[in-house]
Amino acid sequence: MAKANIDLTGRNFLTLKDFNKDEILYLIDLAQDYKDKKKKGIPVDDYRGKNVALIFEKTSTRTRCSFEVAASDLGMGSTYLDPSGSQIGKKESIADTARVLGRMYDGIEYRGFEQSIVEELAEYAGVPVWNGLTNEYHPTQMIADMLTVREKLGRLEGVKFVYMGDARYNMGNSLMIVCAKLGLHFVACTAKEYFPAPELVKQCEAYAGASGGSITLTEDVMEGTKDADVIYTDVWVSMGEPDAVWEERIKALMPYQVNQKIMDNTKNSSIFMHCLPAFHDLKTKIGKEIHEKFGITEMEVTDEVFESAKSVVFDEAENRMHSIKAIMAATLKPSEYK
Ligand code: CP
Ligand code: NVA
Repeated sequence: MAKANIDLTGRNFLTLKDFNKDEILYLIDLAQDYKDKKKKGIPVDDYRGKNVALIFEKTSTRTRCSFEVAASDLGMGSTYLDPSGSQIGKKESIADTARVLGRMYDGIEYRGFEQSIVEELAEYAGVPVWNGLTNEYHPTQMIADMLTVREKLGRLEGVKFVYMGDARYNMGNSLMIVCAKLGLHFVACTAKEYFPAPELVKQCEAYAGASGGSITLTEDVMEGTKDADVIYTDVWVSMGEPDAVWEERIKALMPYQVNQKIMDNTKNSSIFMHCLPAFHDLKTKIGKEIHEKFGITEMEVTDEVFESAKSVVFDEAENRMHSIKAIMAATLKPSEYK
């Protein structure tokens, strides 16, 4: 089980830049422990009587359900505040909202736009705040992703982890940070204008220097993906971005679509990962609209790869719940009730 000497009680969970390697490994171990207990039917409701607020200014399936199921399993109540159903940012400032919710809840999850919003919430709330996704970072996803890599490949250090697509946004940024902190070899394989920001790359190079990992940015698909252990991608247009960017994204990122040729260039033991939701067929409203406008039937990943034996995307999605449970449990104090 997770190392006993690590105590994250009272900490916010806003970006993995704030956590060291041992703390991140502790959360992955704790998530594994909660997963094992869930499979065995062992109750973990040590947080009875606590309550958490879940603020979503953008939509969600996995993150919302993970927080709600995890809170319930831990014995806690939860309140979901949807993208339109609260006063936040419209009639009430973030600072005022934080001070109200901090009086009623033991922890607050926030999904929304700029990272500065979740930081302000954390500054004023007086209780732990968890980042459920901002434009810049998606840290809860990272614990699930690293748990999944470790389950599938048996290790983290030394793994060649290739991210394809828009590497400047929440997923590319967060994966580069977690890989650098944990000693993986992170490759952003994409068009130059979609490379992560130079300041963040510099910071991550320093993390990688300490962990034995590395950071590579390349436009060369065959070189970038050669002998990869993990191929990872995400949607090309993220929540909150204008529809007008579809055309330029498709043009710039189509050479970086994850297809069978790319998977054939990786190790035999490689896996395909995606945070989901994914555009891999025409069974969605957006998929159909894009098909009508641009004539394509799949985008960041082909249906063939998505549905292949190498694809671990649904194990990865399940791990969101176990890891969010670990993040809440690690940062909250268990209840005093016996
Ligand atoms: N991966 C992820 O965050 O999914 P949702 O947007 O459904 O929460
Ligand atoms: N980059 C995506 C991630 C979704 C989980 C978005 O922000 O929409």
